[in-house]
Amino acid sequence: MLKPEGTIYIFMGMRYISYVYNYLDSQLKYHFNSWIVWYYTQGIGKTIGFSPRHDDILMFTKSKKFTFNLDAVRIPQKYYRSVNNMRGANPGNVWEFSHMHYCSRNRLSHPTQKPEGLYERIILASTNPGDTVLDPFVGSGTALRVCQQTGRNCIGIDINPEYVKMCEERLAKPFTGFDSIDDRMTRVPNDLNDPELRAEYIRNHVKWFLSNHEDAIPEFIKEVKAKYGEKLKKDGQMDLLDELIKGVKKPR
Ligand SMILES: C[S@@+](CC[C@H](N)C(=O)[O-])C[C@H]1O[C@@H](n2cnc3c(N)ncnc32)[C@H](O)[C@@H]1O
Repeated sequence: MLKPEGTIYIFMGMRYISYVYNYLDSQLKYHFNSWIVWYYTQGIGKTIGFSPRHDDILMFTKSKKFTFNLDAVRIPQKYYRSVNNMRGANPGNVWEFSHMHYCSRNRLSHPTQKPEGLYERIILASTNPGDTVLDPFVGSGTALRVCQQTGRNCIGIDINPEYVKMCEERLAKPFTGFDSIDDRMTRVPNDLNDPELRAEYIRNHVKWFLSNHEDAIPEFIKEVKAKYGEKLKKDGQMDLLDELIKGVKKPR
């Protein structure tokens, strides 16, 4: 099914991942790109041995030519340095997103619902708007929801008709931002001392890093105030924050 320039991501438990790796590599002759670790911070506790805290995701491409939109998935730098790319840093291959807890606002009654932020990164990086994503084990519909909000087409398949119904209901719900975010996305770089650069950075942060996370903008504004409140006042830039606050949309 995969197009010649397509990418496949496989979530696989420890026991079988090496077999899947070998199959993709030796039999299908796909190209290995990344072994991603999803660090989910909490989970079941073992009393003998170490409690598991990560899942593994294999990323392979069918050929050497494939879509990879690094700019769409960068994370903010920690410090402003003129040598640093202010468009952000590569998120690396260890991704921290907590599990969808039963108290999360978007939690559905699917036992292995994944965080939307995780799928957002995969889909933004490896597809362009208008492309088609196939999730043959779609469960609660996380891939469908992310594609719906990022302008991709998506085909979801599930053996369980109850989950198909769950997906339909999920897609009909209003959107107020994805249900999870890599915490690094909300960080505000230190040392933004040049007023012009600071203004440009603050505007871009919302456009680049928080575009699908409207509900993270108030927290970002708080962080900007804590770090740069005095400087913004001194440089007459308080209207920048008002501009951001006005831009926070009401739930759709
Ligand atoms: C790990 S869950 C996917 C969770 C999903 N990513 C989410 O965020 O909700 C795997 C799903 O695959 C479905 N499934 C299992 N075997 C299947 C098969 N042979 N064909 C289609 N779906 C299958 C299960 O019903 C389950 O919902």
